[in-house]
Amino acid sequence: MSKPVAVALTVFALATGLALPAAAADVVDVYKSPYCGCCGKWIDHLKAAGFAVRSHEVNDVPAARQRLGMPERLGSCHTAKVAGYVVEGHVPAADIERLIKEKPKALGLAVPSMPPGSPGMESPRPVPYDTLLVAQDGSARIYAKH
Ligand code: CU
Ligand code: CU
Repeated sequence: MSKPVAVALTVFALATGLALPAAAADVVDVYKSPYCGCCGKWIDHLKAAGFAVRSHEVNDVPAARQRLGMPERLGSCHTAKVAGYVVEGHVPAADIERLIKEKPKALGLAVPSMPPGSPGMESPRPVPYDTLLVAQDGSARIYAKH
C-alpha cells in the first residue's frame, strides 16, 4: 500500500470510528511443533494476508492447546492466539479478519483436524470443511463454510 493511501485510510478509519483492516496491526502467536511442515505453510498464508506472525516451537502442542483453553476434540496440528482469541488449526486468514472485526463473545475459531484444501494444506483433492466459532464453554457452531 502506498503511503498516501495508508494515511487516507487511517484518517477515514479515525473519522468514521471504523476499525482499520485487522491484518494491519495484529500479531498472531503460533504454537507449533518444530517438525510441522503444514504449520509453516499456514504461517506463510497469514503473512501473505498481512498478519505479523510470531512462531513458537513447542514439543507438546496439546499442552499448549490446553493452556489456551481450546478443547482437544477440536484440535489440529497447531494452535495460535491473536487479538485475545484462540485460533486452532488451518483457519483461513479471512475468517480471522472477520472475527477481529466482528468481535463476537467467544474463545475463538477452530478448523479441527487438517482438511485437505484448507490454507497450508493445499491438495489436488480438496474437501469441504467448516470453520467453527468456539464458545468459552467449549461448544462450537459453524462460522464459515469452505
Ligand atoms: Cu497442519
Ligand atoms: Cu499446523
